[in-house]
Amino acid sequence: MSTFSIRSFADIIEEALQNISFPAKDAPALFAPVKYTLESGGKRIRPILVLATFEALSGKNPAEAVPQALGIELFHNFTLLHDDVMDHAELRRGRPTVHKRWNTNVAILSGDAMLTLANMYMADCDSTRLPQIMRCFNETAIKVYEGQQLDMEFETRSDVSVSQYIKMIELKTSVLLAGACMIGAIMANASQKQAEAMYDYGLNLGLAFQLRDDWLDTYGDPAIFGKCIGGDILNRKKTWLLTTAISEARDETLSIISEDLEDDILIEQVTDLYNRLDIPARCLRQIDNYSGAAVKALEKVEMNPEAMEFFKNLALEASSRSR
Ligand code: IPE
Ligand code: IPE
Ligand code: MG
Ligand code: MG
Ligand code: MG
Repeated sequence: MSTFSIRSFADIIEEALQNISFPAKDAPALFAPVKYTLESGGKRIRPILVLATFEALSGKNPAEAVPQALGIELFHNFTLLHDDVMDHAELRRGRPTVHKRWNTNVAILSGDAMLTLANMYMADCDSTRLPQIMRCFNETAIKVYEGQQLDMEFETRSDVSVSQYIKMIELKTSVLLAGACMIGAIMANASQKQAEAMYDYGLNLGLAFQLRDDWLDTYGDPAIFGKCIGGDILNRKKTWLLTTAISEARDETLSIISEDLEDDILIEQVTDLYNRLDIPARCLRQIDNYSGAAVKALEKVEMNPEAMEFFKNLALEASSRSR
């Protein structure tokens, strides 16, 4: 039995990631970017959710759910490779992104390879749970793509409301954290009621997590965050920050983001506008609200006090993180 801590679950995942063997014989270079990506760290929150939910609801050794935890993390890393192409991002986890270090074709293809590996690991469970696991995983994946499509479409739109933004991040980010909980619950043979409550926890945790990501993209410390600060502003991403600014100071916001300014000046002007509207502090309060809603969802789950404390602490960590 593991002790219920982020560290101990993360250690299990790191060890399992290091032991992945890559199938290609003829084109080993296909997997160099995969290894580069997997060894670059990452918080591993999604596979941690799989293992912790599994152990909390079954009382069993989390080793049994390691393939599904790896499946979720591989899927997440696949989305990051393609996301960095779509977002023209140059830095991730403090290192050059795959499409910068190699090229776009490499990022597409090694991303595809990770998606296939994700499916292989996800399907590595007994036949009684297989259909339910794969249905949950595939439905989740389609929603992530829908969210990414909306995220891209929103870049060139100026009429995106805060609630449309929330719906978009529920798809691109939250459903994967929620799906991770659901997969842990299915592996644990938990009741539908317990599984749904954990899904609700993951969904709210995911909203807090993506709002924090948006906040960090403007207000984070680049040395810790590991991504370029201001990327969302340059891409005109309709984040919580920008959709709130548009709803409250529409003309001024649209006039700044439609001007052809130097990157540094654009980031400075938008950040200054956010500050004048008190948007960063209000974003942090919104993050706390979603994190509170995640903790509230736990009231419907039966688990031992140690596990309960773990999930509450994870919600706090995810909503106050610096990286
Ligand atoms: C980045 O996810 C993409 C978002 C949904 C914000 P993470 O912040 O979990 O990235 P890593 O895996 O820890 O680097
Ligand atoms: C990422 O959203 C969501 C997915 C990768 C599906 P972001 O584009 O905000 O993530 P980062 O900031 O690049 O990690
Ligand atoms: Mg993106
Ligand atoms: Mg991105
Ligand atoms: Mg981001």
